[in-house]
Amino acid sequence: FSLKNYNTFGIEAKARQFVAVHSIADLKTILEQHSSEKKFVLGGGSNMLLTQDIDALVIHIDLKGKKIIKEDDDFVWIESQAGENWHEFVLWNIEQDFGGLENMSLIPGNVGTTPVQNIGAYGAEIKDTFVSCNTINIKTLETKVFHNEECRFGYRESIFKHEAKDQYIITSVVFKLTKRNHKINTSYGDILAELTKNNITNPGLKDVSNAVIAIRQSKLPDPKELGNSGSFFKNPIVPKADFETIHQKFPEMKFYTVSETEVKVPAGWLIEQAGFKGKRFGDAGIHKNQALVLVNYGNATGQEILAISRDIQKTVFETFGIHIEAEVNII
Ligand code: EPU
Repeated sequence: FSLKNYNTFGIEAKARQFVAVHSIADLKTILEQHSSEKKFVLGGGSNMLLTQDIDALVIHIDLKGKKIIKEDDDFVWIESQAGENWHEFVLWNIEQDFGGLENMSLIPGNVGTTPVQNIGAYGAEIKDTFVSCNTINIKTLETKVFHNEECRFGYRESIFKHEAKDQYIITSVVFKLTKRNHKINTSYGDILAELTKNNITNPGLKDVSNAVIAIRQSKLPDPKELGNSGSFFKNPIVPKADFETIHQKFPEMKFYTVSETEVKVPAGWLIEQAGFKGKRFGDAGIHKNQALVLVNYGNATGQEILAISRDIQKTVFETFGIHIEAEVNII
């Protein structure tokens, strides 16, 4: 079974067996029937690089539906099934004037995978509005709720990348959103500029969402047109003391202070300075507008993309002494 249409990189890889599940009951039945087999869980396929065929039963989580499960005067609690498209879910909330997700407009992927890497953009992260997620234990079939603190969210990090990895299937996620007194967040540089350009001085949820969409469309490739997985690397966090030494050598290096002892450096800047931006090697390459994004021009293999990513890591390390780590799951 070809997985080309099930990963946003558009990589050709085969699954030994493939099944899409549309209900929790189906999911449990499948897990039971295949209890002794190797399984691989697939959501939106937007944060992975397939470098080989998958010798396992691939289970595609296609659970749909969203509903208000609780509300008071100020907040609404929305539960979305894992298979809902993230961006459509964001827009659905904005239409009803539910606030909190607008800065994360147009991020590819499905709701069920957003907690895994604590997706974030333009000054917001999933952890800011995430209440809990419902999961099924792949081995025991027991359901388990993970509350916000239990997920141990960090920058593109959660328990689902560590202790809980490959053990649970996230079936739905609950978010707590504002019904009034929205916390409009335009502090992330480009947003304010985009709003000003359009003469918007008192932005609502929709205005912020539109600004984010415009910014993303101007620098990030649409996976439907050009295979990619968003940022391929994380922005490295460097101890302040080390950073100061590096910064003396490269005074133009951009950075954000994350704590008293740590500094975050934009990997896109490092990769661009290392000379990779816009480069193409066969059908694989580095995007021309955002060096953090690796792209598949058509028939690149996962191995080819992986090789480029290693080359980038090596050159960036040799140039700046900073190690950049993949954000995308390498399969
Ligand atoms: N930069 C360059 N060259 C580049 C790209 C960026 O010099 O080719 C510089 C920019 O000039 C800017 C800085 O790097 O000063 C930051 O760039 P940008 O605002 O585009 O954001 P980013 O740090 O590269 C992160 C996230 C994105 C998210 C944006 C906006 C990570 C790994 N990436 O990128 O998330 O959309 O901020 O918040 O944290 C994703 O995770 O897939 C993703 C796209």
